[in-house]
Amino acid sequence: MPPSPATDPFADILSTTNAHRAQHSCGAYPYDKGSLLGVLAAAVKATRIIEVGTALGYSALWLAHGAPGAQVDTIESDPEHVRIARQRCIDYQMSNRVHVHHGDALTVLGGLDPNAYDLAFFDGFAPTPQLVTGLYQRLRTGGVLVCANLTLGPHNADDLLADPDAWLAHSFGETAIAVKR
Ligand SMILES: C[S@@+](CC[C@H](N)C(=O)[O-])C[C@H]1O[C@@H](n2cnc3c(N)ncnc32)[C@H](O)[C@@H]1O
Repeated sequence: MPPSPATDPFADILSTTNAHRAQHSCGAYPYDKGSLLGVLAAAVKATRIIEVGTALGYSALWLAHGAPGAQVDTIESDPEHVRIARQRCIDYQMSNRVHVHHGDALTVLGGLDPNAYDLAFFDGFAPTPQLVTGLYQRLRTGGVLVCANLTLGPHNADDLLADPDAWLAHSFGETAIAVKR
């Protein structure tokens, strides 16, 4: 059964993202645990959040919803996804808090503040050591990384989060959650 607005305030974006992907054969697969992102954003009392892989804005809006005071920087390389996501942020009156950056993740990450973010969510294509390192550098000590898509590429959570001096990590299914030491 599809999620309803009663349990998922962004259910319409979830369904339009799936429809968009079916039409365009693109990589816009919405994260299937939106509420987990909202819960984590609330639990860490996030004030600054960073995301790689906006698609049409589903997970970015869940992150902003969970932490009502937070600013969210989200990065997306597909210009049509950027256009739609920015419009959805306006529709949900979150465009003052959710900033959709257009470009390649590694490039955009390099221009964002280091040691500044409370929560990071990776949901681009496959996580690479370079991207995880880029997010590590943006997180403050004690900040939390949620890394999706662990089964898409050659790297698993043990590879990506191998250094116990850098991360305290737990993985389940395709997702890892790790705290920056
Ligand atoms: C799995 S979807 C993201 C889904 C989104 N988080 C959600 O829950 O709706 C992956 C997105 O990452 C984007 N992407 C892939 N590689 C990227 C990169 N290197 N830099 C920026 N965006 C990238 C794709 O265009 C796609 O829109």
